[in-house]
Amino acid sequence: MESEPTASSRSALDLGVVALLVLAAAVLFTQVELNEWLFERTRHLEALQVDEAPATLFVLATGMSWFAWRRYREARTELGKRQAAEQRLALLLLENRRLAQQYLDAQEAERKSVARELHDELGQYLNAIKTDAVSIQEQVSEPQATVVSAIIRHIDHLHAVVRDLIRELRPVALDELGLQAALEYLLEQRQQRMPTVRFEVALEGDLDTLGETLSLTLYRLTQEALTNVSRHSRAKHVSVRVARTGSAADGSDAVTFSVVDAGRGADPSQSNGGLGLIGMRERVEMLGGQWQVTTGRDQGFSLLARIPVGDQKGATA
Ligand SMILES: Nc1ncnc2c1ncn2[C@@H]1O[C@H](COP(=O)(O)OP(=O)(O)O)[C@@H](O)[C@H]1O
Ligand SMILES: [Mg+2]
Repeated sequence: MESEPTASSRSALDLGVVALLVLAAAVLFTQVELNEWLFERTRHLEALQVDEAPATLFVLATGMSWFAWRRYREARTELGKRQAAEQRLALLLLENRRLAQQYLDAQEAERKSVARELHDELGQYLNAIKTDAVSIQEQVSEPQATVVSAIIRHIDHLHAVVRDLIRELRPVALDELGLQAALEYLLEQRQQRMPTVRFEVALEGDLDTLGETLSLTLYRLTQEALTNVSRHSRAKHVSVRVARTGSAADGSDAVTFSVVDAGRGADPSQSNGGLGLIGMRERVEMLGGQWQVTTGRDQGFSLLARIPVGDQKGATA
């Protein structure tokens, strides 16, 4: 394959061409005795001093060369500054990415610990209160029995709320049953919470051997995307697809994630400072994936990601 000429080799070539042209001109002008020839032809214009033109032209050429040299130096300095700024920008982007990763890690750790507290503390105490309430219910008669059974109902309700909260914070099903079942459960829950939205779901390929980080990423993407659908879209239809395609043998093993709704969309040029979409993009790019948001006013909202499976199996969240 032919290699591209570099900037310095192009400059050397240009200088060579100029030198050759000057040499050729010098030889040619000596041969034809240009000055004498000019002098003869312009003798009758002596009053206009046309024969002095070569010296003036020489000064002009020298001036132009100086001018070009100065612009060239300026362009070089400008280019140097721009390259330095680009390097700084790349470093800042790297730093930004690192901070985003730390933010996401901290968020996951915080969710895990809140879920544990809810389960271990609140959950245990609710159980204890219910046990006590049941034993009181057995010992009292009306009208206190009605009050106690109302207390038991409230405790059951609170229990269900806490269980849902724990599941949102830390998808236990993900650890215990794998991504496929955890997603099925999550989608079922969201469908119940959004009865007016028609869900179209496709979970394809082996989703249970993707490793903890990638599984958690896909779970969080689905969670946030569906929260956005319910908060912002006013859609009647949403399509969710998580599909594992390709094979590890040729390195094409990857997961495609998409959540597309047919709702009111958003103006892509306007950012309202939400962290959901930014966090989703960070999660995808952290794993070397590609991320794409397509939307427009009244044109629905489409999220698309493609994440390589790579060697993430051993990774931890
Ligand atoms: N499915 C959707 N339909 C319409 N607009 C959406 C949708 N998802 C996100 N948006 C728009 O993008 C913005 C940013 O979303 P996000 O980053 O998740 O932040 P938040 O949900 O906290 O507002 C939302 O405020 C909304 O205007
Ligand atoms: Mg959001």
